[in-house]
Amino acid sequence: MTGNEIRRKFLDYFERSGHKVVHSSPLLPANDPTLLFINAGMNQFKDVFLGLEKRDYKRAVTSQKCLRAGGKHNDLDEVGKTARHHTFFEMLGNFSFGDYFKNEAIEYAWDLLVNEFELEVNRMWFTYFEGDADVPADTEARDLWIKMGAAPERVLPFGKKDNFWQMGDTGPCGPCSEISYYLGDAPNDPEKNSPFWVNGPGDTTVEIWNLVFVQYNRTQEPDGSFKLTPLPTPSVDTGMGLERMTMVMQNVKTNYETDLIRPIVEFTAELAEPIANRSFGI
Ligand code: SER
Repeated sequence: MTGNEIRRKFLDYFERSGHKVVHSSPLLPANDPTLLFINAGMNQFKDVFLGLEKRDYKRAVTSQKCLRAGGKHNDLDEVGKTARHHTFFEMLGNFSFGDYFKNEAIEYAWDLLVNEFELEVNRMWFTYFEGDADVPADTEARDLWIKMGAAPERVLPFGKKDNFWQMGDTGPCGPCSEISYYLGDAPNDPEKNSPFWVNGPGDTTVEIWNLVFVQYNRTQEPDGSFKLTPLPTPSVDTGMGLERMTMVMQNVKTNYETDLIRPIVEFTAELAEPIANRSFGI
């Protein structure tokens, strides 16, 4: 399946279930001084999540151009070191603005990955927020994955760094649940296809989709401290890396080898070749 077909399948799936297909916003945020570049699909809906703006739809789906090269979500230092970071990428996402919540978000994700994209359940890993002093453990998300069919040992708790999502220091945020996928050639090896690699070293097990349960607004107090205020209408914000999903579907080892990026590398190499062959008069 090509990268373009994967994008189309994602958008069509959620359109069929009542989501409005909304165009990607430009990379430069229109009205948000807290952000230099768009870093997630939810940015263009920030005020909708906060209840400050109303739209004539309560469900949306997008393929959003994102750039993570600075600020809270900065991939710049990872480029060239990992198989899956390149600062500019497309994020596929479905959104609920006070409509459905955790239950349906997890049902949709399972159905799309397992029944539509036909990913192997024994390569999938699921994570949920383990809880801290401010926010309780998200055992509901854990139980929902198990109800869908995940083996309990493949559903893992993680802390704030991995399983609590906020777009910046302030704004809508909440606990999240991620799906990672084992890409190696030994799915039955309990050491290789194991929890150790989830949010761990290397690129053989990669996060492909993040489901955020948007429940709070994070604000800064005059004394500089931060405060979480529950939002009146819990919402959903999800983000799947198109290039990572394409890596999985095309069974290649890096995002750079997908049909989304490889032609760009090859084209650049063709341009570079005559330059590399020039003697520069030396
Ligand atoms: N906002 C979340 C993320 O960027 C999910 O879309 O991961």
